[in-house]
Amino acid sequence: MNEEKFVQMRRLRRSPAIRAMVAETSLAPEHLILPMFVTDGPPWRTPLETLPGVDLLAGEAISEEIDAANAVGLKSVLLFGVLDSRHKDPSGSAAADPDNPVCRAIGQIKRHTTGMAVIADLCLCEYTSHGHCGLVHDGRIDNAGTLAMLARAAVNLAQAGVDVIAPSGVMDGTVRTLRRALDAGGFSDVALMPYSAKFASGFYGPFKAASRSSPGESLHATHQIQVGNGREALRKIWIDVEEGADMVIVKPAQTSLDILALARERGCPIPMAGYDVSGFYRPLIDSHGLASPACDALMLEILTTIRRAGAQMIITYYAKQAARRLS
Ligand code: PBG
Ligand code: ZN
Repeated sequence: MNEEKFVQMRRLRRSPAIRAMVAETSLAPEHLILPMFVTDGPPWRTPLETLPGVDLLAGEAISEEIDAANAVGLKSVLLFGVLDSRHKDPSGSAAADPDNPVCRAIGQIKRHTTGMAVIADLCLCEYTSHGHCGLVHDGRIDNAGTLAMLARAAVNLAQAGVDVIAPSGVMDGTVRTLRRALDAGGFSDVALMPYSAKFASGFYGPFKAASRSSPGESLHATHQIQVGNGREALRKIWIDVEEGADMVIVKPAQTSLDILALARERGCPIPMAGYDVSGFYRPLIDSHGLASPACDALMLEILTTIRRAGAQMIITYYAKQAARRLS
């Protein structure tokens, strides 16, 4: 006869089998989205100094990376274009060029037929000579002009065969504008996954160095959300749902677990992705070594926590290593 008055939680922690049975949060390769930085080659593969374990890819190296991702069970990749400065101009017109590195990579991956879902990040900072996320007039970002350029860029990505477009510049009206442009162009099956809750964060540093898109004087505070404003982030998620978003991204995930949890609690009706950003990735790799058992354990803990908070998908530079450990 048990006289104890306290609740015995430990009964369900006794063995690996019982712990597996009661596990609340799953983490599998299909939840992970692999970022890929693509450019024109040669060289075909260049390690990115600020993102250890991540390479800048061109040509055949893109297909090799897709094969490596496919082999460990990954189902989706997120493409970032890295352009030579001679292809950039103040209006970012290379974004509408069907021969830009992102469009070429999309065509190549689609011809490669692994069934991999291809998501393309879309922000003008990848294409503008000044590095700002939009067209700049008198030191300010011109929302309407930027939207017009993004609409052309979105149709350009759709023509190349992209599955999902992830607009990351957080201009107002982006989702509605891109949805209309895609539908008008006959691309109603291309999905939109905006960075709806995107905070103006210091944790993007290694990414910016890697993508060669750091503007001198940042205007990010004029379009990204200030870190203390959780209600504003939730409002933006709901605005993007209304405008026709199919999924949303919350970024940085590690400092926005409350946003993921609240959005889920309040019934966010579309899948959410958490972005495990570069400023959290790099120190872990630097201290523990890529794919070491210690690094794997810490990474899986973080990824599980982002899922626990409410993310369906996670964008992470550790996708291949984590998927290998999980499969
Ligand atoms: C914008 C973009 C950024 C990141 C992803 N998309 C940079 C920014 O918003 O300034 C950062 C991701 C990371 O730090 O890992 N194209
Ligand atoms: Zn940008």
